[in-house]
Amino acid sequence: MVTQRIVHIREAMEKDLSTVLSIEYKCFKDPYPLSLLNRLLIMHPDGFLVAEVDGKVVGYVIGVIKWRATGHILAIGVDPMYRRQYIGSALMEQMINRLKEKGAKLVRLETRKSNIDAQRFYLKLGFKMVGEIPYYYEDGETAIAMERSVEN
Ligand SMILES: CC(C)(COP(=O)(O)OP(=O)(O)OC[C@H]1O[C@@H](n2cnc3c(N)ncnc32)[C@H](O)[C@@H]1OP(=O)(O)O)[C@@H](O)C(=O)NCCC(=O)NCCS
Repeated sequence: MVTQRIVHIREAMEKDLSTVLSIEYKCFKDPYPLSLLNRLLIMHPDGFLVAEVDGKVVGYVIGVIKWRATGHILAIGVDPMYRRQYIGSALMEQMINRLKEKGAKLVRLETRKSNIDAQRFYLKLGFKMVGEIPYYYEDGETAIAMERSVEN
């Protein structure tokens, strides 16, 4: 029997941040520190979403408006145990809708050039590669910039 998991997406709360931090550590070699996650939550309470399955936080996304009409995805991560279940897609769609409501016409993000899985994920969501940014990351890696128009 295939069990369908119910995914609940909601705004993050301070009590979620330790779990978000642990997901960051599972996802990235340069995770955001707790102090930065805390600051982002305070500054952008409606731009920090988490995905819950059975009451457990298993993913998050952070998105903000920059330059009035551009939404910027700062981070997204899904616990490895819960990947390929469209949780990342659900987080992105909800975030994109929020950014649109705030006036975004375009959503932009950067991803490591070596992160082919993330590039495939974003391509599937309709993002296009628009350029490279050399030395974008602290270890010197190039970023791939990706954008999606959200005007309709
Ligand atoms: C990228 C990430 C957020 C995707 O989350 P997810 O919940 O597993 O993604 P979804 O299930 O919504 O995937 C939707 C589609 O994206 C593509 N995709 C997602 N992960 C993929 C992978 N590892 N390899 C290839 N394609 C992938 C597929 O087309 C997938 O659809 P399919 O399963 O029907 O083929 C997750 O892999 C992750 O947390 N990675 C580590 C952190 C990271 O790299 N974040 C982005 C940094 S810029």
